[in-house]
Amino acid sequence: MKKRILSGMRPTGRLHLGHLAGALKNWVEMQEEYDCFFMVADYHALMSEYADPSAMKDNIIDNVADFLACGIDPEKSVIFVQSHVPEHLELNMILSTITPLSWLERCPTYKEQLREVEGRDLATYGFLGYPVLQAADILIYKANAVPVGDDQLPHLELTREIARRFHFLYKKEIFPEPEAIMTKTPRLLGVDNRKMSKSYGNSVNLSDTPGEVKKKIKSMITDPQRIKRQDPGHPDICNVYSYYKFFFPELAADISEKCKAAEIGCVEDKEKLADCIVELLKPIQERRDGFLKDRKELEAILEKGARKAQAFARGTLDEIKKAVGI
Ligand code: TRP
Repeated sequence: MKKRILSGMRPTGRLHLGHLAGALKNWVEMQEEYDCFFMVADYHALMSEYADPSAMKDNIIDNVADFLACGIDPEKSVIFVQSHVPEHLELNMILSTITPLSWLERCPTYKEQLREVEGRDLATYGFLGYPVLQAADILIYKANAVPVGDDQLPHLELTREIARRFHFLYKKEIFPEPEAIMTKTPRLLGVDNRKMSKSYGNSVNLSDTPGEVKKKIKSMITDPQRIKRQDPGHPDICNVYSYYKFFFPELAADISEKCKAAEIGCVEDKEKLADCIVELLKPIQERRDGFLKDRKELEAILEKGARKAQAFARGTLDEIKKAVGI
């Protein structure tokens, strides 16, 4: 029997190279080894976008087109939208009754977002419960593992705690304790060396045109110690090099040597990287455009995914309700 995984992404904007590096590449590989559920977490997005959710529907379609274009295969994996499977909310309700407030108030992601996020009021009842809904997402599929970035580890820990508390209170073991599968790749920084994020506008999006890619890569900060063209460079502290290492490992050794020997300058280095990224994105974008042209087909994929997900979720929810006695 294959182990099961579930993972999700919030449809808050276009997907970028960081999503490709940190999540999508792994998801594609995991399809062979695991039974996979990949979810667009629209209710989680709504928790921050509630004041203006108008872009969400388009983002869902756009993100799913990227999933498919990158190689997530609806024949192998269940691809679905969270709000199409309302069983998540029923389980969210049940789990919220057993989750102590203190666990949620103490959650580091919650405290950080309340502090850091600007332009949105996140002091809501729903947002405090963010990890409870995430626990419901994971537990309703009895997932054995969850591929996540390190920012999500506190949520996974809470999921395990909630599962344990459920088992303790209702004297029935329903859920496996889900493990984290951490991405092997270090976090890719944005073109300005800050964390890659849509709100900073520093990401290269999977849907960017060649012109946009070139402009963004051209703006990248390289080795700050390399001031003149003839100075030797330090690839290990250069963000441009980190992109090579991750996306074009076959070129990285050569680039590193030439940079250290001052045989290639930063401008040329970035032009070359931009060309490589344009080539990398080309087939993804061709497939993406194909899916976006046939929106009906895309919606059919999501409907089929929701049916499969719901059938599974129903089964678990019945077991859960029986254990609770409702
Ligand atoms: N919180 C996740 C994020 O922001 C998205 C998410 C929602 C998720 N439900 C999930 C991830 C379940 C893994 C499993 O990235």
